[in-house]
Amino acid sequence: MLKFNKKLILSASTAAALAVLTAGCMGGSASTSNTTTEVNGKATIDGGSTYPVMNGKTGPYYVNPQVAADAPKINNGRVPTANELAAWNTDIMPDGTGLPEGSGTADEGSDIYDAKCVACHGDFGSGGGGYPSLSKGNAYDLQKTLTNNRWKDPEADGPVREFGSYWPQASTLFWYIKDGMPHPFTKSLTDDEVYSLVAYILNINEMKIDGVDVDDDYVLNREKFLKIKMPNRDGFEPNIDGPDALNDVRAYYANPTNFGAQNLKKGAVRCMTNCQKETARTIYIKNGGIKDFLPPMSDVRSLPKEKKVAVDAAAVYKNTCEMCHGNGVGPGLGAKSDWAPYLADGIDSVYKKGIHGTDGGMPAKGGSSLSDADFKTVVDYLINGK
Ligand code: HEC
Ligand code: HEC
Repeated sequence: MLKFNKKLILSASTAAALAVLTAGCMGGSASTSNTTTEVNGKATIDGGSTYPVMNGKTGPYYVNPQVAADAPKINNGRVPTANELAAWNTDIMPDGTGLPEGSGTADEGSDIYDAKCVACHGDFGSGGGGYPSLSKGNAYDLQKTLTNNRWKDPEADGPVREFGSYWPQASTLFWYIKDGMPHPFTKSLTDDEVYSLVAYILNINEMKIDGVDVDDDYVLNREKFLKIKMPNRDGFEPNIDGPDALNDVRAYYANPTNFGAQNLKKGAVRCMTNCQKETARTIYIKNGGIKDFLPPMSDVRSLPKEKKVAVDAAAVYKNTCEMCHGNGVGPGLGAKSDWAPYLADGIDSVYKKGIHGTDGGMPAKGGSSLSDADFKTVVDYLINGK
């Protein structure tokens, strides 16, 4: 764990913000001294540590004194009442804990679905538009796609992970709908309505309970619900089922060899730093680069210098300027008397007007895309005739 042990000297104003902040983080035990306060490295009740505050900031971030002032109130909150807890404690567990009595048919569920769910989850739970599908077909068939290995069999379908094919427990479906759907009018469904919707979703996933098809008229109730066995019930590792699931999962993850790490030989110590053996081949790029490439790869880091190619003023004139300047529209090539009035304002004015164009009919840069410098070269050529 990182240790901060510097003492911070705080100004009076930052000490005030700091005092509430540390009080918030450390259960009110912080010193409120406004000269020297040690906050760094003190463990908080949740196992973290306080952030150092200096000049009203922690790192690059300003501490909002208002939020900090509220912190102690949150921290000193009261124990929730039994009713408040019950309102939050809504989970429905695989063993039936939390599962209410009630009943409904897939047929009834279909009507509720069309009224309250279809807008987002699509016809027959097909999903789309960013909303999850609730069925993609026969759950038992689709469960088999979960172990498809497209590396070995490129023709195989990718794994289909939706309620019917993937979820290990139906209790999650009941809980999810009862607690979180229909978005955004959550908790608006009666228990019977949820039973109907669950029956409908089982129906469109072509599922059976105890070997019996959940057809349109199937009456789903608490007793039958608890007999649902999801196709992928045993498809998870570690085993997340049963009363000891939590400990099973902990034990599983306590042993890294369960998820890919290799067993060490007896007495060996696991390498933690500079473990890469220096077996990688080194390729040296000698002067002139790698010869196998055409053109050879360069080992020069900077870009090659651009070669300045002088503009061919005569050619540009011919292609771009002559149609006007060679036909009496605009001063002629090398025609001193034509140019005299323009040059009266100085060559810089002539360049400038040529670059920006004039109301008298000269298009900007003569319609070319020359750089300013190149254009000037062409102007020189145009004025002098060489
Ligand atoms: C306004 C849109 C909207 C409506 C209406 C709606 N849902 Fe949902 N539903 C969502 C969204 C969004 C998600 C995914 C939420 C997430 O993943 O965080 C979702 C998730 C779900 C899931 C979990 C699916 C999964 O594979 O993760 C179920 C089951 C579900 N809804 C059932 C229903 C039922 C039943 C109704 C009707 C009573 C309903 N929803 C109505 C938007 C909606
Ligand atoms: C579409 C016709 C046309 C083309 C193409 C054209 N010019 Fe002109 N140019 C004119 C006319 C007309 C004038 C006179 C403008 C005026 O008196 O305001 C002029 C004036 C100029 C002037 C003098 C600007 C001033 O007012 O001082 C320069 C410099 C010039 N052109 C350069 C060029 C160059 C270089 C090209 C080719 C890259 C070119 N022009 C192409 C029509 C053209």
